[in-house]
Amino acid sequence: MKRILTALALVLACTASFARPLPDIQKSGKLLVATEGAFAPFNHFEGSKLTGFEVELADLVARKMGLAIEWKTLGFDALLTGLGQDRWDVVIASHGITEERAKAVSFMAPHYCSGGLIVAKDPKIRAAKDLAGKTVAVQTGTSYLENVKKVSAVKEVKNFPGDGDARAALVTGRVDAWVSDRFVALETLRKNPGLKLHAGELLFTEKIAAAAAKGNAPLVQAWNQGLAAILADGSYAQLSKRYFGEDVRCK
Ligand code: ARG
Repeated sequence: MKRILTALALVLACTASFARPLPDIQKSGKLLVATEGAFAPFNHFEGSKLTGFEVELADLVARKMGLAIEWKTLGFDALLTGLGQDRWDVVIASHGITEERAKAVSFMAPHYCSGGLIVAKDPKIRAAKDLAGKTVAVQTGTSYLENVKKVSAVKEVKNFPGDGDARAALVTGRVDAWVSDRFVALETLRKNPGLKLHAGELLFTEKIAAAAAKGNAPLVQAWNQGLAAILADGSYAQLSKRYFGEDVRCK
């Protein structure tokens, strides 16, 4: 009997729900937020410290909500799924708002506007039409993958678990182009002039937002209020200028 109870306790502990109703979150004083931690300058590690525009932004929003954040980092592909499994309250990892994703999760208001930028070594590869007959690297599970697939003349789309792996494939000449977030790509170019990569055009644009478990409207509303407050009081503008030299909010 004792053994059965221990086993039962273990099962319960493992299935403990974390995508909690707002009152439970408020009572605990802590918001459990998951991100990838490998998408600089949005969410990445500097040594052992998780940081980035989205990490600092979430901290500001949470503060407005009267909460502290407990961070979790894991592979990009598992982040939204974890919301459905109630493993954390919020995901913030540069997700573009798409119809498909919105079927599974509830998006917050967007916290920046961006798009998928075409990057190549060959300066002649600039636009969607130039991808004809070419091999393109993208991170698995991203909107870049979905949008490159729509370019029918592309020879092959190669998927990588991390965006950094996709970029490395371009750098080492295993693919002809890499499609990634415009700010991620531009920072790579600026920081690594020696790589001789060229920025082409935006393949598509998207609104980037954090997400909560599908239907958790009170949490979405509370987050949106916090976000609206930092957009209004100048702290968003200041943070954005520090990271990008411009205000990246959706206009
Ligand atoms: N914006 C793209 C998307 O919506 C890529 C996001 C990648 N994020 C990351 N943390 N690696 O899918």
